[in-house]
Amino acid sequence: MNSQRKGIILAGGNGTRLSPLTRGVSKQILPVYDKPLIYYPLSTLMLGGIREILIITSPLDLDSFKRLLGDGKSLGIEIKYAIQKTPDGVAQSLLIAEKFLDNGPCALILGDNIFYGNELVNILREADKNINSATVFTYPVRDPENYGVVEFDNNGIPKNIIEKPDKFLSRFVITGLYYYDSSAVEMVKDIRPSKRGELEISSINQIYLEKNQLNIQKLGRGLAWLDTGTIDNLIEASLYIRSIEHRQGLKIGCPEEIAWRFNWIDNNQLENLAKPLLKSGYGKYLLQLLEEENLNDKFEISY
Ligand code: TTP
Repeated sequence: MNSQRKGIILAGGNGTRLSPLTRGVSKQILPVYDKPLIYYPLSTLMLGGIREILIITSPLDLDSFKRLLGDGKSLGIEIKYAIQKTPDGVAQSLLIAEKFLDNGPCALILGDNIFYGNELVNILREADKNINSATVFTYPVRDPENYGVVEFDNNGIPKNIIEKPDKFLSRFVITGLYYYDSSAVEMVKDIRPSKRGELEISSINQIYLEKNQLNIQKLGRGLAWLDTGTIDNLIEASLYIRSIEHRQGLKIGCPEEIAWRFNWIDNNQLENLAKPLLKSGYGKYLLQLLEEENLNDKFEISY
């Protein structure tokens, strides 16, 4: 039994809405502006203080992820890998991760979800405190019918979570980041595949809701939650990241920077990470952080 929360990044799937881009490469390795998509969910888990992470991929893509991220040691974290043979649903990831989780709590994030905003770190740290319940995050979207939607009763209390509903229930959908206690794995063993043949994560959330053990945290409109499932979403996410990075001169979703700011790696280790990346500017950015450390407090810049 393990009480330290571990992270899971679900990075399998077919990426059919992005084909042919995804024919030769996993969706989560495609670029979002200046870095592979998976850097963003990895950064989110790290910002939440999570240092043991399982990446679940399709069998074909496993080696690419290992080449990209290795065992995580250079980032002061531990990365392990597991395979999902076929994309049989988000909830299946909890079964695949059962041994890794060792009866402990987890944070599960979809490998194609990007979260960005001022309050994010505090929100994640708060969710981490709920060791005996689950926390999910809702966000208002224009097209709720494509997500797991929260249905509220007349008093505004959440009463159901319905996956891709046929009729409009509310514009609040559940984002692809879930904090679960140790009971989630057993719950997945009791659910059946949905009509579309998947073990739905909405079914797990519904069970927590019925047990009165689901914290539903609203993410405000000031926080960005970007989905990258379609070609337009992907380019919009790239443009969004580019606009902010250009304006601030600071990177979004840079795991090397987070590891360094949290003191999980030291200055020398950051320098070593920067060296092979100098030609793209990414390495230069990492070196610049070291130079600026002499001028500023390294923790002054919040996320
Ligand atoms: P989706 O976008 O629902 O599926 P997909 O990535 O296969 O794309 P498409 O619909 O275009 O075919 O998945 C959301 C995220 O969850 C994405 O990062 C892939 C991941 N995923 C898995 O890894 N395994 C699964 O069984 C499912 C359903 C999703």
